[in-house]
Amino acid sequence: MHDEGDYPLNEQSFGAADGLETTLSAEVEPADREVESTLRPSKLAEFVGQPRVREQLELVLESARLRGTPPDHVLLSGPPGLGKTSLAMIIAAELDSAIRITSGPALERAGDLAAMLSNLVEGDVLFIDEIHRIARPAEEMLYLAMEDFRVDVVVGKGPGATSIPLDIAPFTLVGATTRSGALTGPLRDRFGFTGHMEFYVPEELEHVLRRSATILGIELHPDGAAEIAWRSRGTPRIANRLLRRVRDYAQVRANGAVTLATARAALQVYDVDELGLDRLDRAVLGALVRSFGGGPVGVSTLAVAVGEEPTTVEEVCEPYLVRAGMLARTPRGRVATAAAWAHLGLAPPSGAPGAAAPTLFDD
Ligand SMILES: Nc1ncnc2c1ncn2[C@@H]1O[C@H](COP(=O)(O)OP(=O)(O)OP(=O)(O)O)[C@@H](O)[C@H]1O
Ligand SMILES: [Mg+2]
Repeated sequence: MHDEGDYPLNEQSFGAADGLETTLSAEVEPADREVESTLRPSKLAEFVGQPRVREQLELVLESARLRGTPPDHVLLSGPPGLGKTSLAMIIAAELDSAIRITSGPALERAGDLAAMLSNLVEGDVLFIDEIHRIARPAEEMLYLAMEDFRVDVVVGKGPGATSIPLDIAPFTLVGATTRSGALTGPLRDRFGFTGHMEFYVPEELEHVLRRSATILGIELHPDGAAEIAWRSRGTPRIANRLLRRVRDYAQVRANGAVTLATARAALQVYDVDELGLDRLDRAVLGALVRSFGGGPVGVSTLAVAVGEEPTTVEEVCEPYLVRAGMLARTPRGRVATAAAWAHLGLAPPSGAPGAAAPTLFDD
């Protein structure tokens, strides 16, 4: 089971080969990578939204600047596509420091990490993405490095092995994770500051879209921006991707401008509905409501009904359906809320969560 603050990456479950199926995935896709580097904000002031994290981070960075020391280690946690990698790069840029980038899965052996750490220059930012996937021996080495700027390098094997302490330059670790719940306590405790990234509200996504449109040279009308923002699942990565798909449509079928009309028409082609639900999300809700009377029903039964893997339903569809208030996870199974019935154009039964409770005075 996933605890709170846990945003599972769907490593195996994203089997869909055709691009349309993954239009709404928050995961980074090969096509995103190149354009994302051009769309990444490079200063804190350019970073849209996340007012809390931004203010907290400003204080951490500014106070470090005043003291003339590298700031405390920073952990950034939150669902995919909300800007963790962007923020890590901004931290380095704001500090005028070099950034070294690695990831948890790449640090399989402690030696890999030792090599990275011993190459750091004072004030460097070391960015470890997916830090919850770091291997145990590397993690233990990291404890000492974070606390005392020291590593113990073990030389030799067995009883003759000796450990040689090695000083490393004071650095700032920035860790990013989609699953802060999967981090061990000791690792989490060694971060001086944790920024919890939240989903963006539509107005913030409009801002992200306006910025991206300017960079990409897309004529984006305010009503078109608003429409895309509403359907982007609170996620800048998805907003930017939908913007590019709508741009494609506008270029081929219209005069290139992204207006309300082109946004609506394009998103219909890509099967993205008014709330940002895609075909699979709607299939899940439809099965839940029509075949199982709104639930409760187990996730594996639900998955069979829509012809998908349970992990896909659980990790790809459900987080957003839950957040959109359409689906509830209960101990007895999944339940459709009144909002789900309404979204499918059906009248919710009185027992549905979120439906008005029947009263004695009902007529
Ligand atoms: N606050 C923001 N302002 C403007 N653009 C943003 C913002 N946050 C994210 N983006 C855009 O979204 C893209 C994805 O962001 P980023 O790669 O930083 O997300 P992430 O949280 O690291 O995702 P993952 O968990 O998949 O690594 C960026 O390239 C950038 O274009
Ligand atoms: Mg990232």
